[in-house]
Parts: sequence; C-alpha cells; structure tokens
Amino acid sequence: MEGKTSKSSPVNEQRRNFISGSISAGVLGAGIAAGLVPTLAQAQSGKKVDRMASYTADQLERVKQVLVVPPMVPAHDQVAKGKPKVIEVRLDVEEKQIELENGTKAWVSAFNGSVPGPLIVCHQHDYIELTLVNPDTNMLAHNIDLHASTGALGGGELTLVSPGEEVTFRFKATKIGTFIYHCAPGGIMTPWHVVMGMNGAIMVLPREGLSDGDGNSLTYDKAYYIGEQDFYVPQDESGQYRAYDTVIGSMNETLDVMKTLTPSHIVFNGAVGALTGENSMTAKLGETVLFIHSQANRDTRPHIIGGHGDYVWNSGSFGDRPARDLETWHVAGGSAGAALYTFMQPGLYVYVNHNLIEAIIKGAAGHIKVDGEWNDDLMTQVSKPSIIVTIQLKKPVKVLDRVFA
Ligand code: CU
Repeated sequence: MEGKTSKSSPVNEQRRNFISGSISAGVLGAGIAAGLVPTLAQAQSGKKVDRMASYTADQLERVKQVLVVPPMVPAHDQVAKGKPKVIEVRLDVEEKQIELENGTKAWVSAFNGSVPGPLIVCHQHDYIELTLVNPDTNMLAHNIDLHASTGALGGGELTLVSPGEEVTFRFKATKIGTFIYHCAPGGIMTPWHVVMGMNGAIMVLPREGLSDGDGNSLTYDKAYYIGEQDFYVPQDESGQYRAYDTVIGSMNETLDVMKTLTPSHIVFNGAVGALTGENSMTAKLGETVLFIHSQANRDTRPHIIGGHGDYVWNSGSFGDRPARDLETWHVAGGSAGAALYTFMQPGLYVYVNHNLIEAIIKGAAGHIKVDGEWNDDLMTQVSKPSIIVTIQLKKPVKVLDRVFA
C-alpha cells in the first residue's frame, strides 16, 4: 500500500541516522537518575557548593506547568520561592498544514500545534520532566533537543518517538538564560523538522530573578515570546507557491529550496501578521515588558521601531551583565535572546527583524500597541507639513559634463 510505505520508510531512516554513533541511552539515563552528574561537577570545580543545586529530583515538590500558545508565556514567579521543583510539562506533536499568507500553505511539525512551540519557564536547579507525545495520526518520528539541558544530545537520544509512542525524560536546569529546543531526529530530518517550525524556547531564570549586573534587580510587568521562523515553500513554473497533500509529499521539493538558503517567508509566530492587528502585543505606558525572541536556524536582529532594548541579554545569557540601551540586538541562529524595555510613550510600535527586507518583504514584523498619554517633552511635531517657506541660500554649483563622462 502506497500510504503505508511512505509512512514507514522515513521513520526507519530517522532511526538509522539517529542510532548510528550514539552512546547507550541506558548508561546515561542511569547516571542522571543516580544524581551523579551534578555531584561530580561540584566536586571537581572546587567551588562553594550551591545548596539549591544539591537536591535530587525525588526530594522535591512536583508541579505541572500549563503551557500556552505564544506570544503568551506561562504564569510564573520571577523570583523563585523555596526549594527547586520538578516541573512536569507535556508536548504533543502535531503534523499539520498552516497558512503562511494569502492562501500559501506549509506543512509544519509543531510542538503543541504552534510555531514556535510553547515557552517553558523555570528557575535554575529546577528539574523539567517532559513528556513528548507523537500521536499515531502523525507520519514522522520526532524527538527533542533542549539547549538548556546537558548530555545525550540535549535529550535527543532519550526521546525519539515513532507515531503512536510517547516518552518521558527529565533534566536539571543547571544553566540560566533563554535557550531554544528543537526536534533533531538525525540526518536531513533535523534541518527539515526545524524549518517545519518544530522548535520553541525555555527560559531558565536565576533563582533571585533578573539583575542589571550592578546588584539591582530587574522585574517585568509582562512577557512575550516571539518565535521567528524561516520557511522554504517551493514554487511552480509560474511562480505560484505549491501546496502538498501530505507532509511526506512536501519533503523533497522543500529540501531543494532549503539548499538555496533563501527562505520564501520569514515570519513571527507561524504566519505573516500573526502579531499584528487584533493579535498585536500590548502594553501600558510605564510598563516594562520582557521580549524573548528565538530563531532556531538563522541569525536575526530584533529591533523595536520607536523604542529600545533597555537591558538586553544577547543570545539569552542571563549570567552575563546585560547590554544597555541598544537600538538593535543580535540573536544567533540556534538560540533565544531576551530584552527588557519600559514603554515611555504611547502608540504603535513595530517589532521587527531589522533586516528590513526580511521584516517587510518576507514577513518578520509584529506590532505592540501601547496605551497612555503622549509626552510632548519626549517628542513633538514642531510644525505640520506645509509648503516650503524656509530659504537656505546656497552658492550655485556648476557641474561639468566631463566629470560624468
Ligand atoms: Cu520532528
């Protein structure tokens, strides 16, 4: 049966690619379960042992985190309360078609059905216990590589599930910052799944919350998660974007476009206009907003038109002193960055990737609507546009033809 063949072969190929050269998952799993990894690291570093880092998962309270569709972020404390926790999260993989713009469709493999997948939030030394579910309605095998985790290909070795399977694994969040996660089943499947939107981010906050590097804590009134995604939709001879009946059917021609390194679309949150109009991000005058921005595949350069990055952790490094008062910042492909901004003026701000070709022509732009009272001192129009009446006397300059000959 044709359908059955096309369903089983890519899964088998992924298994082969994935398993070749891999370390025994069983050995690694046993080491993590026994709590050996942090103990050894602490002993070897000679550093003072952080008491909060010393707990093992079985000693800690378990909580479930309700994941939400980006740009929203899960409810969370900015400063950790009490001991670390074991945070249970569940990600269901959906293979489906989405509309990028004006009827142009693309197949995605999406964690919890959204591009990007949901933001996970925890504090340093918390454990994330993640259940990955691959429903039997899917055609492909999937896994998850979390850049916040340590070992076993970021969890990729322990989490490969075929359609109809689920898996649960746990890791300790030892590093602070914003990090991406993505599917990485092996070989050509890895870049294909990543550009099918199969990526998201996790924010590991310092237990004491964010700080400016001078001992002052930084807090936010709200947070948004922007996931930037490059898509490579094939075109027919007349330039029309192609649509495919199945995810497998879209693979070869999509890979051909991917090899050109020229995206057909670069969008925030899964579609052109996903963060504009009714879906705009919002803030009130004086509110401080944390923007988390991920790009699993290509470098990007977030910018708030009309605003700034007051404090910016380029590529998400909360352990570093944040850069201040940036106009544009840099998020390296394969990472997530964070920027804090307090809105001082109402109105419409445009949040873009400041390669403006990528923003305006390819789609990577969103809006932030800010309510409040305008401050004339910060900006005012001194006179409205009118006929030119100011005269600036200039000595005429003769341009010789031969200069241009
Ligand atoms: Cu996948």
